[in-house]
Amino acid sequence: MTTQPLLEVRGLVKQFEVGSAWLGRRRRFVRAVDGVSFTVERGQTLGLVGESGCGKSTTARLILRLVEPSAGHIGFEGRDLLSLSASALWAVRQRMQIVFQDPFGSLNPRMRVGRIIGEPLAIYGRTDAAGQRRRTRELLELVGLDPAFAHRYPHELSGGQRQRIGIAAALALEPSLVVADEPVSALDVSVQAQVLNLLSELRRRLHLTYLFISHDLHVVLHMSDRVAVMYLGEIVEIGSRDAIHREPKHPYTQGLLSAVPVADPTLRRERIVPRGEVASPLAVPSGCRFHPRCAFAFDRCRVERPVAREVGAGHEAACHLY
Ligand SMILES: Nc1ncnc2c1ncn2[C@@H]1O[C@H](COP(=O)(O)OP(=O)(O)OP(=O)(O)O)[C@@H](O)[C@H]1O
Ligand code: SF4
Ligand SMILES: [Mg+2]
Repeated sequence: MTTQPLLEVRGLVKQFEVGSAWLGRRRRFVRAVDGVSFTVERGQTLGLVGESGCGKSTTARLILRLVEPSAGHIGFEGRDLLSLSASALWAVRQRMQIVFQDPFGSLNPRMRVGRIIGEPLAIYGRTDAAGQRRRTRELLELVGLDPAFAHRYPHELSGGQRQRIGIAAALALEPSLVVADEPVSALDVSVQAQVLNLLSELRRRLHLTYLFISHDLHVVLHMSDRVAVMYLGEIVEIGSRDAIHREPKHPYTQGLLSAVPVADPTLRRERIVPRGEVASPLAVPSGCRFHPRCAFAFDRCRVERPVAREVGAGHEAACHLY
């Protein structure tokens, strides 16, 4: 029996127009996401990692249909997300939720915590007022907070507590997919591990599926079953956590890994940190987009865009070395 992945993304593209054609100026486009494909199996975590501006958040927003794709396919729970009517999409939205980076910016400062968590239940008419209060208490306990927190305002909470509220609100409607976009990047290092552990525990208890986004490969390796490495709008390598950790193939992944502290001495590797700045998506290099920074670049890399090839079981890399 074949089981269908919970989320399937194929050839996803998003171009943003920047500037304007006013007074004869040429229209310019940012290809923020440029042909991204991956699947996420039920109950698994796919980590999406890459430097700032590579298109991670845009990918997340496309999947959640917060922005419209320029091209591509998104399958979720066996349905084609891009062909759903507005009412069908509204219903499906309950099943996919997001946890944002900035728990302060994403929580309404004028609402008490109880209302923030209960609001999705009210919007979807899930239960009456008493049911909402009961469910809010349950959710607060689920994220490790005292139910009395329901009466507080976001500004009365610490960063870690606010992110727990963000997680509780995301779980209110019992989603199957949670997209976590840099969920601990804004938190003190001392509380990051607690929030990551909470996310892992919730995944196990509630059989959730995560798309976990971070610029920090160390965090992504800790959280994920599979890892996709993104560079300038493309996925350059995807594989199991162990394959990416122990046998990274793409020079960009190798560079990211060499910047991660390694506890296991058998895994110590030479430093091949990518040179130079990440290029702008407004001026994408020809051929392999990584070639201006790649220590292994050769002539073909400057003219031909590499396609993803299998480099191991369930492991693909887009690089002319393979
Ligand atoms: N609404 C928009 N209009 C124009 N350009 C945009 C828009 N949203 C994103 N971009 C551009 O698309 C590219 C990818 O942005 P995105 O936010 O997806 O990157 P990211 O990987 O999430 O970065 P970070 O790690 O900084 O969060 C960037 O160059 C960004 O400036
Ligand atoms: S295709 Fe060439 S430039 Fe690109 S990562 Fe591979 S070796 Fe480097
Ligand atoms: Mg982002």
